Amino acid sequence: MQGVSRTFEVGGRPVRALDDVNLHIRHGDYIAIMGPSGSGKSTLLNLIGCLDRPTRGSYHLDGRQVASLDEAELTRVRRHMIGFVFQFFHLINRLTAAGNVELPMIFAGIARSERRRRVAEALAQVGLSDRADHRPQQLSGGERQRVALARATVMGPRILLADEPTGNLDQKSGQQILELIEKLNEDGLTLVVVTHDPNVARRANRILVLIDGKVAQEVPGEEIAEVVATLLAAAPAESAEPPADSVADSATNSATAPE
Ligand SMILES: Nc1ncnc2c1ncn2[C@@H]1O[C@H](COP(=O)(O)OP(=O)(O)OP(=O)(O)O)[C@@H](O)[C@H]1O
Ligand SMILES: [Mg+2]
Repeated sequence: MQGVSRTFEVGGRPVRALDDVNLHIRHGDYIAIMGPSGSGKSTLLNLIGCLDRPTRGSYHLDGRQVASLDEAELTRVRRHMIGFVFQFFHLINRLTAAGNVELPMIFAGIARSERRRRVAEALAQVGLSDRADHRPQQLSGGERQRVALARATVMGPRILLADEPTGNLDQKSGQQILELIEKLNEDGLTLVVVTHDPNVARRANRILVLIDGKVAQEVPGEEIAEVVATLLAAAPAESAEPPADSVADSATNSATAPE
């Protein structure tokens, strides 16, 4: 990514969500993105995942200039190369766990028998073989996120983008999700995780700190411990987060809201 900016027009006024970002992500990287609310983290993730395009600058993915891809090629890239996990799971409530995991394969035109096989494998990988027929409302938050992870990885992507994947989970479920995605990273999957939690970020190999749409700081692996200690020391000031229980409630509400 070189000189990438993303400006939105709101009421005739430009809102610069990302401002001249340079970023090189290598295959197999494990990157955490941190920064205050509104600093451009999700915008950056959406650009990396080709859900959105820069208004300025260039972005090469796997050697190809993303701006030059047509809709069909972009769809292919999103379908086969990139997996997304979100804070509010974004599962489809009227489908079972198995149905949610199967969906990307239906879009990709994969044969039914192969879909069945891969659904079983993906659910087994996240430890949910015995929840295949449950609908999202019949699953805990952690289980929902594991279904979302199975869905995000069932097409065998090269890059996994996670926007606050543990933001609505209790510590144990969050830990479980991190361990699962880190195992995928060890097997070569490139991982980019947006997080507010320094304890999550410290697990990455590199931390990017965004402020006002700019990369304010890029923390290499060897300095992560030090920077995280500083962040944690500053943490009490922003401990306005609700307790785990009410977070779980809001997750339930949001999961039923339209996307
Ligand atoms: N579709 C949009 N239209 C207009 N403005 C937008 C749009 N998406 C994001 N923005 C603006 O761009 C800025 C960055 O938003 P972004 O969602 O990337 O922040 P963030 O760092 O992910 O914040 P949070 O931690 O709250 O999720 C914000 O000021 C936001 O209001
Ligand atoms: Mg965001």
